[in-house]
Amino acid sequence: MTDVNRKLLDVLNGKTITPPPIWLMRQAGRYLPEYRATRAEAGSFLDLCYSPELATEVTLQPIRRYGFDAAILFSDILVIPDALKRNVRFTEGHGPQMDPIDEAEIRALSPDGVTEHLRPVMETVAKLRAELPAETTLLGFCGAPWTVATYMIAGHGTPDQAPARLFAYRHPQAFEQLLHFLAEVSADYLVAQIDAGADAVQIFDSWAGVLGEEEFAKFCVAPVARMIASVKARRPHAKIIAFAKGAGLLLQTYRQKTGADAIGLDWSVPLSFAAELQKDGPVQGNLDPMRVVAGGAALEEGIDAILQALGHGPLIFNLGHGITPQANPDHVTDLVRRVRSFG
Ligand code: CP3
Repeated sequence: MTDVNRKLLDVLNGKTITPPPIWLMRQAGRYLPEYRATRAEAGSFLDLCYSPELATEVTLQPIRRYGFDAAILFSDILVIPDALKRNVRFTEGHGPQMDPIDEAEIRALSPDGVTEHLRPVMETVAKLRAELPAETTLLGFCGAPWTVATYMIAGHGTPDQAPARLFAYRHPQAFEQLLHFLAEVSADYLVAQIDAGADAVQIFDSWAGVLGEEEFAKFCVAPVARMIASVKARRPHAKIIAFAKGAGLLLQTYRQKTGADAIGLDWSVPLSFAAELQKDGPVQGNLDPMRVVAGGAALEEGIDAILQALGHGPLIFNLGHGITPQANPDHVTDLVRRVRSFG
């Protein structure tokens, strides 16, 4: 593993690579016709996540098409609540749903059976590492405790996570217990992915941006810091990217406080501020996914601005959030070509 040249790992080690390595959040997804075909064959979305053959296939699809520098394990952050028997379902047009958790159920949460339930995911990771080109970095991932908790409390996605914010004020102890529990099972899950062959992992805190400063410190920074410390204590060479979407100015100290090797930036992060953040270490991001839908000049200008501001330091080129189903696959070809012609 150490004898191959994985550019993304070099960046995570603080190097500047020109042109920067590139992958896209949600790069395996509904914008690709080959994904839609496999998805139709799989049955439910969770069946796809737990089928090592099919999950490997959809992970590899964007690598074959675009030659990205990293593959991200195909799964979902909500396999953790699923493993906790929260009755997770993905129904067409409704997004994810599960049984909303209450205080008594939080007190009764147990990690028993979680590892067993997630064994097919580890099989996928191992298959992927065996099938991927040697130079392609394999990323594992999980959701951050706050983001996973928002779904567990509301039972579905909401525009502003009001149910979880309210629960946290009304039941601070139970909420704290939930975050602690999720941090522990999620850290174990990341260690298992690393042991199965993941080269690095990303923690998705997609709902960080709905919190005030004090809540961000308690609900995002502290649990993610505990997770990273736990993973690194057990696997000292583990590399971790932390993506706190919408955290804005609070990103200034996020890397230092969590111990993340790289921080992910959403598209609302100004490039001048991103360049400041990059002085402390690698950054990942941050093209607006709508530029990939639009294509043409909007796409080119967005790419060039990022490369100009961040391309001379440690950068992993990515979107500022997941690619959307409306994205044109040919625009992704244009994107990769333009990033690779830098420098
Ligand atoms: O990036 C990748 O290609 C790897 C796969 C991946 C998926 N979800 C596949 C998926 C990853 C890394 C995720 C993370 C995830 N899942 C997050 C964090 C990142 C983010 O986007 O904010 C969150 C919040 C979830 C929860 C989730 N899963 C939601 C809200 C939805 C529904 C959204 C929608 O567009 O329908 C999902 C479903 C999901 N996860 C899909 C995919 C490809 C689409 C479902 C389908 O194919 O039927």
